[in-house]
Amino acid sequence: MLDRPGIVLGIAALVLNEGATDENAREVIAAAVDEGVVALDTARAYARIDDDGVGERLAAEGRERRPGLPIITKAGHYRAGASAWHSDGSVERIRSDAARSVELLGAPVDLLLLHRADRVDDLEQSVATLAALRDEGLVRAIGLSNASVELIDRALAVAPIDAVQNRLGLGVDSFAEYRHCREAGIDFFGYAPFGGPRAAPLATRVPHVAALATQRGTSVHRLVLEVMLAVLPGYWPVIGSTRVESVRDAVAAMSEPIDDELRDALLGDLESRGVAV
Ligand SMILES: NC(=O)c1ccc[n+]([C@@H]2O[C@H](COP(=O)([O-])OP(=O)(O)OC[C@H]3O[C@@H](n4cnc5c(N)ncnc54)[C@H](OP(=O)(O)O)[C@@H]3O)[C@@H](O)[C@H]2O)c1
Repeated sequence: MLDRPGIVLGIAALVLNEGATDENAREVIAAAVDEGVVALDTARAYARIDDDGVGERLAAEGRERRPGLPIITKAGHYRAGASAWHSDGSVERIRSDAARSVELLGAPVDLLLLHRADRVDDLEQSVATLAALRDEGLVRAIGLSNASVELIDRALAVAPIDAVQNRLGLGVDSFAEYRHCREAGIDFFGYAPFGGPRAAPLATRVPHVAALATQRGTSVHRLVLEVMLAVLPGYWPVIGSTRVESVRDAVAAMSEPIDDELRDALLGDLESRGVAV
């Protein structure tokens, strides 16, 4: 779906965090777009109680800085209250979500994902609806989010899918869905590459990479992304920076070549946790 590897900025925290402001979101998104992220990631669910469109509107504004920048959004999961989100994969919900996304983005959706593939009642019906939207030209590509290997196979029995977005990073070491997508030629977007905002400090989870970062005067986040981009073809990390400094630092990983010492450090850190990449 994307024509080159690279980093995607996810904007969930920029909308949903306590104290989040549109002003900060605009600054972080602008920095990400200017530094070269390859897509923005949003969702119908990245909404405020009094504004269901804020997540997609902010993404669309960000794209004005670089027309043509792909925007990923998600249907079938919505904000229902201060701390309540509901999932609904019905034909009516998916169709009305897609129509609202097109309205807010001002263009057909580049990639529409079924947000909670793990929570819908009738996955086959949800996937058939997404495929119909693709046939009708409202969306260019379709996929699943939060999907096991079994759900991916069930979806593929209904229609070809273009992408999967699951948690994959240094918090959850489950690479089974990534490998499955790779074999099936499906793009894989890995959210929370650093384990998300509540994970233990990254340096404690990848001590060898952290030591190299100190030696080289750079950040452990940047080095981790550099290696993950190099060793996981067909994987696009979806980062959740909420500061201009951290998004600039992370996106710089896209232009840094990696070397054997760095590669071995990350692979060693993963291996010591029993993960073979
Ligand atoms: N499909 C789904 O169901 C789903 C679920 C969850 C998330 N997502 C998507 O994935 C995105 C990312 O998720 P996440 O926020 O959990 O992921 P994350 O990127 O693993 O974690 C975000 C944390 O990493 C920090 N960070 C990022 N770059 C850094 C750097 N260079 N230096 C220091 N700290 C850095 C951020 O710090 P600062 O805040 O200080 O910048 C933030 O605290 C979300 O925005 C959303 O779009 C999708």
